[in-house]
Amino acid sequence: MEIEKIIKEGVLGQKAYPIESRTCRIKLDANENPYPLPPDLKERLLRKIDSLSLNRYPSAGSPEMRSSIAGNLGVSDDMILIGNGSDELIQILLTAVKPESSGGIMIPAPTFAMYKIGAVNAGHDVIEIPLDDRFDLPIDNMLDIISEKSPGITFLSYPNNPSGNCFDTEKIKKIIEASNGIVVVDEAYFNFSRKTFLPCLEKWDNLVILRTFSKVGLAALRIGIMVGNPSLIHQLDKVRLPYNLNMISQAVGQLFIERAKEFLPKIDHIIAGRDRLLDKLKDIEGIDPYPSDANFILFSCHGDKNSVYEGLIRKGILIKNFPSSGPLKDCMRVTVGTEEENREFVESLREVIIPLGE
Ligand SMILES: Cc1ncc(COP(=O)(O)O)c(C=O)c1O
Repeated sequence: MEIEKIIKEGVLGQKAYPIESRTCRIKLDANENPYPLPPDLKERLLRKIDSLSLNRYPSAGSPEMRSSIAGNLGVSDDMILIGNGSDELIQILLTAVKPESSGGIMIPAPTFAMYKIGAVNAGHDVIEIPLDDRFDLPIDNMLDIISEKSPGITFLSYPNNPSGNCFDTEKIKKIIEASNGIVVVDEAYFNFSRKTFLPCLEKWDNLVILRTFSKVGLAALRIGIMVGNPSLIHQLDKVRLPYNLNMISQAVGQLFIERAKEFLPKIDHIIAGRDRLLDKLKDIEGIDPYPSDANFILFSCHGDKNSVYEGLIRKGILIKNFPSSGPLKDCMRVTVGTEEENREFVESLREVIIPLGE
């Protein structure tokens, strides 16, 4: 078999999403919540799992979670689609939209890698628009692309991963207003920014909002949420695999929703930790951190960032490195951890940076 003749060119030319295979004592690379579930909740989960009929398929479409989430967000059930992580929901959107008649998928650069990876895999052209020097949207350029090419989907991460900032609200509204295609506002980090476009769903039927449970404490379970107009959700629901969310994720997700309020103090803690971490990073010579509305901080390094990255790994700390070319060539991203993890990270960073400056 000649694989090159069978596999799409886009897939052949693409690199898989890069994930560092080395593990470290302190994990600050993937924007996860550093706190484990409370012990009593873990016990309830174990009892719940014991009661599940694991020989049966799970409920198709996660109806119980769908209803609870709709109730919490104040929308109807038919506006919600539950995915195996928001990654799956991104893939569903890209599978449903016609590559041949849409004018491509518009994304800012840099942004969350899966928009581009998913778009290329689905056979779309990708239009990457470089962000300005404050990592905000170059609105005139984007409006020009919308009128020239009419992108099928525009993805906006809000706050943007990896820069950490929320784009200007008025610019996003202009993009939604001007677009004939779908505009996805990906609110994966909503719990840390507390800014949302949810009320705008009433005004614009091309707006889709994504949320996830991954950043607030359940990354392992892969639970993503899409909120959008019922006619679009109805079409996308046909692309979703029937049993996309396994029975354990549905059961744990439901318990999590019922006890969501208990997690809020930890979120407050992470937000306060982020602000303290930013202040500490500002004091370190040799790096420039960027302000963040999320649970991570992007920073640029004046010296050889790869040595800093490796130095941190040697000290047992894993953060996220980016390719040494392109808009993030000098940058790395650190997730806000527990107070102790943040303290150790800052100390270790100081230690690995000093010899580089000498
Ligand atoms: C902006 C953004 N959207 C979506 C995701 C993926 O979330 P999930 O774990 O729900 O697939 C991430 C994960 O890092 C992200 O940063």
